Amino acid sequence: MPNLFDPLTIRDLTLRNRIVVSPMCQYSSADGYANEWHLVHLGSRAVGGAALVMTEATAVLPEGRISPQDLGIWDDGHVEMLARIVRFIHERGAFAGMQLAHAGRKASTYTPWKGQGAVPENEGGWQVLGPSEDPFSEDYPKPQPLTVEGIRRVTAAFAQAARHARQAGFDVIEIHAAHGYLVHEFLSPLSNHRQDQYGGSFENRTRLAREVVEAVRKTWPERSPLYIRISATDWEEGGWDPAQSVELARQLKALGIDLVDCSSGGNLSLARIPAGPGFQTPFAERIRREAGVLTGTVGFITASAQADHIIRSGQADLVLLAREMLRDPYWPLRAARELGYPTTWPVQYLRAAPPGSEPRQPATGSKPGR
Ligand SMILES: Cc1cc2nc3c(=O)[nH]c(=O)nc-3n(C[C@H](O)[C@H](O)[C@H](O)COP(=O)(O)O)c2cc1C
Repeated sequence: MPNLFDPLTIRDLTLRNRIVVSPMCQYSSADGYANEWHLVHLGSRAVGGAALVMTEATAVLPEGRISPQDLGIWDDGHVEMLARIVRFIHERGAFAGMQLAHAGRKASTYTPWKGQGAVPENEGGWQVLGPSEDPFSEDYPKPQPLTVEGIRRVTAAFAQAARHARQAGFDVIEIHAAHGYLVHEFLSPLSNHRQDQYGGSFENRTRLAREVVEAVRKTWPERSPLYIRISATDWEEGGWDPAQSVELARQLKALGIDLVDCSSGGNLSLARIPAGPGFQTPFAERIRREAGVLTGTVGFITASAQADHIIRSGQADLVLLAREMLRDPYWPLRAARELGYPTTWPVQYLRAAPPGSEPRQPATGSKPGR
């Protein structure tokens, strides 16, 4: 069985270990532009030894931002700074992933440290879109149901965003279909009450997910991995559930998805979620086994032995860490030391490395095939 520090090859990309920086909103952009904050935030986690550093949910359209301060990639102008960040990540031996997102009915909300719920139009908010008319909760904006033409616009925006991500040099795209954002809103019978070809049956509710994957796969290079993040369950009777997730994963694998990143929840404000260490890992294990697709697991992974056990016991192929990476950007270097696995240290930091560590030269990580 592989361990946490074994490489993993997906298409033309070989990750140096199984550790991924999970997407995390930074609410630090103006008009969707990346800046020095993103360079330092993402760059330091590449220095810290993660194999793959994912951007936050990056909006494919301005109205698809969770907050007015979200990162975006709808405009040609967004590419330049993102390209600089990708170059830095590559020079540290890591790869760069972009999570592409549309927040649907959960868009136009306050940055967490500024408030809660809907941002009014006079403060930079906008009319949000969703599958149906129901808001996420009382203090969230009321969505306008998307027309079929509007759905096509969204799908085309995902494809255009993938083109931009490629121009910026990203190695991996992850489609955000989790946490109650637009694609998840369509998947769940509790948020999708449409009567047309995008609502009702499993086939209809999953149509948007399939169309987005197909549109992105067409634009995204054949050699480059494509992931999707799903919420494997709504944690609510009658909602989206693990059995539907397995079937969706099977279908999306056939359309070119390489890895399913298994999260949960986020679509229903009153759902009771039994959160705790390892609570989402059974979803990754089941989808991996029953759909025969690579999976990633996320949620309350903080300890090196815990992460190593997940990989060794074949429950998932990658571990994604969010909050622990905020506490310690160098978590992968620490984990290698604790577990006794050899790993490379940035040459600049070698004097702090355990004896026998190999130096990691700058600029050794440039991309294969690009
Ligand atoms: C500050 C912050 C921002 C987040 N933003 C995103 C995001 O943009 N996209 C996403 O899929 N998940 C997002 N998440 C969820 C994390 O990626 C992760 O799934 C969750 O925090 C559980 O992992 P953890 O226990 O390691 O923090 C965010 C989490 C945090 C703490």
